[in-house]
Amino acid sequence: MDTYKRTGLVFARGRGAELEAEDGKKYLDFTSGIGVSSLGHGHPELAAAIGAQAARMIHVSNYYQSREAIELSDELCARSGMDAVFLCNSGAEANEGAIKIARKVGESMSPAASTVVTLRGSFHGRTIATLAATGQDKFHEHFGPFPAGFAYVEPEDAAALDAALGPGTCALMLEPIQGESGVVPLSEGYLRLAARLCAERGILLIADEVQCGVGRTGSFLASSRSGIKPDIVTLAKGLAGGVPVGAVLARGVAARALGPGDHGTTFGGNPLAASAARVVLGVLGAPGFLEGVTEMGDRIMATVRGWKHPLVKEVRGAGLMIGIVVTVPPDTIKHLCIEGGLLVLTAGSDVVRLLPPLVISDAEIDRGLAILRAALDKA
Ligand SMILES: Cc1ncc(COP(=O)(O)O)c(C=O)c1O
Repeated sequence: MDTYKRTGLVFARGRGAELEAEDGKKYLDFTSGIGVSSLGHGHPELAAAIGAQAARMIHVSNYYQSREAIELSDELCARSGMDAVFLCNSGAEANEGAIKIARKVGESMSPAASTVVTLRGSFHGRTIATLAATGQDKFHEHFGPFPAGFAYVEPEDAAALDAALGPGTCALMLEPIQGESGVVPLSEGYLRLAARLCAERGILLIADEVQCGVGRTGSFLASSRSGIKPDIVTLAKGLAGGVPVGAVLARGVAARALGPGDHGTTFGGNPLAASAARVVLGVLGAPGFLEGVTEMGDRIMATVRGWKHPLVKEVRGAGLMIGIVVTVPPDTIKHLCIEGGLLVLTAGSDVVRLLPPLVISDAEIDRGLAILRAALDKA
């Protein structure tokens, strides 16, 4: 179906941060397939683990367990400080699970609460419920009616948040860094206020870290950078380096809410995805790896700011999740970058978005930035 605004490129293979098209032309990849290929392309350890797991056992169904999924779940809990995990297949599916947990916890609140408050500018997925949760009107065209029980507040407005988190609210769901609407980090003060109000009022705080989680910002969870501990965190994208996976991490009452029969998924947590995710977690856990992500991101942001380019209005983000606000249509820059051999993303209406693989080298960063600079000069 004609669902994607494609560039026309057809890729054949990749190595590290480089992709090769069918015609042999090579491109530096500053997109990681929208934050997914966290270990780049053709990562030897990841490929070997997937191959070995495929030869051993790909799937067993959730009537049974696999050692790979048990160990992945334990590792996710240990890394995040959460109590329980539900493994699934995508970001939208993880958010659906989080919403169901919130609704079930809300049912036992007094009075019963069912409203999930989300932020304007948010993006939570493409299913009907996660579209309803998404606080952007353009996503609500054509596909209604949507389920009731979602309300939206402007980010960074303390009074609006205070007013919205009323007795009917079961959860507040937010992205610590809004990805799709333009790489917009929520301030530490706002995140702390959100966490405090939720805790005081018995409302669950859900952090959608589908894009900003799993080391992307230089911390395993982006929420921990602000010192907050959500009740539920959703992950997907980069978690298994390209094998489809999603995860709902929960603690306390949220971790205990679902019982047998409440929720499920056929493919979720299969040993193939679990083995891949374990390799990703192993790489991220190597001493100094996440610090390196922070340093690389800081260097990219400082370099682009240092250009003082007339087309660049602002550079923002954290780690290797970077938004460059430009004064020309970001698609123009994207296409000029492709001509120069660099893949970048856009976000919102005026942002060039960079999500390079977390294993990118300094030399590749320099090469990519030179192409980006040339594209800005030409635009
Ligand atoms: C923050 C956030 N949540 C949810 C999603 C949906 O994830 P998926 O496309 O895996 O369903 C995305 C995808 O871009 C996202 O950025």
